[in-house]
Amino acid sequence: MPVLLGVNIDHVATVRQARRGDEPDPLYAAFEAQLAGAEIITVHLREDRRHIQDHDVQRLAAHCQARLNLEMGATDEMVGIALSLRRAYAGPQMVTLVPEKRQELTTEGGLDVRGQAARMKDVVARLKAAGTGAGMTVSAFIEADPAQIEASHAAGFDACEFHTGPYAAAFAKAGGDLNFAALKAELARLHDAGHRCRALGMRLHAGHALNYLNVRPIAQMPGMAELHIGHAIISRAIFVGLRAATIEMKRLIEG
Ligand code: PXP
Repeated sequence: MPVLLGVNIDHVATVRQARRGDEPDPLYAAFEAQLAGAEIITVHLREDRRHIQDHDVQRLAAHCQARLNLEMGATDEMVGIALSLRRAYAGPQMVTLVPEKRQELTTEGGLDVRGQAARMKDVVARLKAAGTGAGMTVSAFIEADPAQIEASHAAGFDACEFHTGPYAAAFAKAGGDLNFAALKAELARLHDAGHRCRALGMRLHAGHALNYLNVRPIAQMPGMAELHIGHAIISRAIFVGLRAATIEMKRLIEG
């Protein structure tokens, strides 16, 4: 099965919000990424609306041909938004629940599914009941930790997205040398966790701090279904355009 690419376009909205204007438009970014072969468009509707706005998600849900993955905190406000979008449009086809702190620059660390098991079970059930037809896929952004994987399964998640931040840090420290002990250990931890995730019947996703240098070993993990990548692709797009930057990443993922 090919590994699907989800392009996170939050940074496009960050640039727009710098002037509180209309451009660049995240919907146009979604079209460019789609034309380059991205199967999924990812946006994070943050509580403080620092980049993506409610109307962005609405327009993407209405017009995006790729699958829309809405990242959000497990709050009642966000669940309400996801459910009302699903009543009005085909998307989002997937919700990824993430931890959210107002002060953070970007998502830091995985969601503690184990520590809030009852709440997670309730939120997942409400999201999965949304819409008709194929229903909504609900994914948990977690550390590659067996206890969090088991808890995600018990809560009813369809997928786990492993936080690849620690792997990316180990990769950078090792200068990309896959024989470097700490990097080897981090990859082994991800492989074991991936095996556990799939053995429990959940889809395996990964994301955070993946880039053009470090993506290959993660794309090659057995059973890897989706990678969600933002910062590296949008940064590269400044120089070569979003379509070319997405095509380059897809080529690396496909090997
Ligand atoms: N996956 C999740 C759950 C995220 O929160 C983020 C960051 O918004 C990403 C993937 C993409 O991370 P990056 O921008 O580092 O590629």
